Amino acid sequence: MKRIGMLTSGGDCPGLNACIRAVVRTASYYNIEVIGFIRGFKGLIENDYKVLDYKSVAGILQKGGTILLTAREPRFKEYDYRKIAFENIKKLGIDALFVIGGNGSFQGAYLLHKDFDLNVIGIPKTIDNDIYGTEYAIGFDTAVNNAMEAIDKIKDTTMSHERVFIVEVMGRDSGFIALEVGMATGAEITLIPEYPLPIHVIEEKILKAKEMGKGFAIIVLAEGVASAKELAEILNQRLKDKSVGEIRYQVLGYIQRGGSPSAYDRIMASKFGVFAVEKYMEGNKNFMVAYEDGQLKIKPLEISFGKIRIPNIQEYEINNILSL
Ligand code: F6P
Repeated sequence: MKRIGMLTSGGDCPGLNACIRAVVRTASYYNIEVIGFIRGFKGLIENDYKVLDYKSVAGILQKGGTILLTAREPRFKEYDYRKIAFENIKKLGIDALFVIGGNGSFQGAYLLHKDFDLNVIGIPKTIDNDIYGTEYAIGFDTAVNNAMEAIDKIKDTTMSHERVFIVEVMGRDSGFIALEVGMATGAEITLIPEYPLPIHVIEEKILKAKEMGKGFAIIVLAEGVASAKELAEILNQRLKDKSVGEIRYQVLGYIQRGGSPSAYDRIMASKFGVFAVEKYMEGNKNFMVAYEDGQLKIKPLEISFGKIRIPNIQEYEINNILSL
């Protein structure tokens, strides 16, 4: 019986369990055994794992987080620790390692291929949706919906008090969440790192909203631009004599990353998992699953290294046209 290993690594996101389930169920359909390593690469080094069979993944499809737990493992940068990890993999008779992760996790996995010729397979996940080479990564849709629901609530109180309100959303280096959430909530201003707006333009937009008789304004801010606290302080200072009132802010934070995955994430995570195992069965090696032009594809794992996906300017323009 063939054996494959699987781990989840980096920041968690909704849909990981759906993907774990899909890999295990597809593998078991083809009579392959799955070893799930605990806490990502840490589990490889410490030989911490559990055998995942058909039944062990029952009832997890709709749950957020990851049953395999996740961690960042700096020791994996060192060859000696990777050797320990590989020895563990070899002893278990594992033929390929499936890594559900982001760019950093793919790079870690790739080192196992480079050093020891292990077959490594990447399944993309990150709520930021910024992995180069794929138009979708597991977790993004749920994060956008989580943020949208929170902002809808904030908007009720913002409108009632005729305030200007800054909402900071996640996106360490990227503005995809902010962009989609800005559109979905009708934000007056959307700020993303890829297309920076000078502070005087932000100020003008706020004043324009007020002049046009709009009592309120929502600013959706990607964390990669600045912190909401910092921006609120700057704007409050600059607009203090312009009767816009005190600008308040809210950081949405980890609320975006938790909770039950959306239908879209459950479905995409399931498709990614099934596809990854089937492509492995066909004999493919060292690939990542990618979603492009409405289709699932495989691409060389290295394709995403050192690059980041960026939103196209037309998408950003939509927000400008619809807002102010
Ligand atoms: O990479 C996804 C992400 O959610 C970023 O948007 C965010 O900055 C980061 O993870 C936070 O991760 P951690 O929990 O490791 O601090």
